[in-house]
Amino acid sequence: MKLSFAKPGLPRTGIVVVGVFATRDLCPSGVKLNKSLDGALSRAMRASRFMGNKGQTLSIVAPAGSRLDRVILIGLGKVSDITELEMQNLGGKIYSDTYRAVKGVVAIAVDPVSGSKLNTAQVAAHMAFGTRLRSYRFDKYKTKQKESEKSSLKSMAFHCGAFLNARSIFRTLDRVADGIFFTRDLVSEPPNVLYPETLAKQAKTLEKLGVKVEILGETQMRRLGMGALLGVGQGSIRSSKLVVMQWNGKPKKRGQKSKDNSPLAFVGKGVTFDTGGISIKPSAGMEDMKWDMGGSGVVIGLMKALAGRNAKVNVVGIVGLVENMPGGNAQRPGDIVTSMSGQTIEVLNTDAEGRLVLADALWYTKERFKPRIMVNLATLTGAIIVSLGDKHAGLFSNNDVLSERLMKAGEEVNELLWRLPLSSEYDKLINSDAADMKNIGGRGAGSITAAQFLQRFVDKTPWAHLDIAGVTWSKSNAPTVPKGGTGFGVRLLERLVSSHYEEK
Ligand code: BES
Ligand code: MN
Ligand code: ZN
Repeated sequence: MKLSFAKPGLPRTGIVVVGVFATRDLCPSGVKLNKSLDGALSRAMRASRFMGNKGQTLSIVAPAGSRLDRVILIGLGKVSDITELEMQNLGGKIYSDTYRAVKGVVAIAVDPVSGSKLNTAQVAAHMAFGTRLRSYRFDKYKTKQKESEKSSLKSMAFHCGAFLNARSIFRTLDRVADGIFFTRDLVSEPPNVLYPETLAKQAKTLEKLGVKVEILGETQMRRLGMGALLGVGQGSIRSSKLVVMQWNGKPKKRGQKSKDNSPLAFVGKGVTFDTGGISIKPSAGMEDMKWDMGGSGVVIGLMKALAGRNAKVNVVGIVGLVENMPGGNAQRPGDIVTSMSGQTIEVLNTDAEGRLVLADALWYTKERFKPRIMVNLATLTGAIIVSLGDKHAGLFSNNDVLSERLMKAGEEVNELLWRLPLSSEYDKLINSDAADMKNIGGRGAGSITAAQFLQRFVDKTPWAHLDIAGVTWSKSNAPTVPKGGTGFGVRLLERLVSSHYEEK
């Protein structure tokens, strides 16, 4: 599908889309079209429940005396409903209403609206962004797709006055969409295809965008003392990897203190398949554990988005990649491993593996880069799904400013976070009799004890942990997120970076 921006004026053929405010108040392009169709649009509205409320649509088939295939009326609600997110949702809705249209040529009229927070260029660009986000598909393994399942959409054109401006706003959003799509692809790949080595190879493709990518193998990690990460991967025939991605987009100024140039760090859990190991999971639903690399997928997609839009910021992305398998050489419950930090860990459950991987990835990141902030993402606990479901990801942090910024960025892009507590009382629950700590707490507060565990590997670094187990995969379609891998976190962190850490 080709997305384009063009001057005002609708074509005489194909599908056209016009906006309607509540109550049944056609936009100027709609008024004009209605006249040329002898009032067919007003009659269709009167004959239906369509009021022009936010999100409502009405599809009118081939009006008599016209060469158009269809006119779609989209409800805009009130002028105050014209926001970036609402426009993205509308774009997504238009896509889902038209992607199976036979000729597949759609034109959308974007008229100026007085009193609106957004100008027409912004409206058009955000609608196009929503359309693109909704158009994502992962069907590369379907060899016999039914005609009715395919998208026949060929082109979608947004007609507005400032179309050149719209095109330039969209260009940036389109690069963010590239990052989100990369994440969705990685999360969707089956675990026989995507394992530590092949996931690292995917990260390596970012080099063509100017990202520096290093891949550490097991020998290097052993030399660094990463006993916690390596223990998780030792039961798998696939060897573990640690990938370090650096994007240095901040313009260099003379006489600047080196601290100002220290990067932002994003760290991801990349368990390419989590069987649970010797503490093996039940078979029902185990296939979901192919997306236990979701945190690393977000970090890689985020790097793609930032590099793609040439962000003026220094960022490192670090992902710990392992496969958690049972086997003759697998880690046993009761094993004690020594992490890179020197702290020892009693592994009481081999299924609490994500924190072991992150322990070494976080420590390594902090030691090597001394980052300004460090944010990690992980499909870490089933318990976060019990607490928050799929509406919010869990947020844990040692820093109130960073937490506020993350929550606000999340609201702005509709990737919501909910903060949960950390405290020394919870921290006590992971003390071990045999080692410095154990990798599971008691029966309660499973997501919090997991976060307390991570906190033991970040020192004083301003840090936040996002537990994305509930939001990484979706079973139903949403306006800009088709079911499947969501890419949750890419938009949120891209917004965090652009709002607070990037030179304008
Ligand atoms: N990857 C899982 C968490 C998970 C569960 C993610 C469901 C997505 C959906 C994690 O490694 C895990 O197994 N956690 C255990 C921890 C427990 C053994 C302390 C869990 O949540 O049950
Ligand atoms: Mn597990
Ligand atoms: Zn896991």
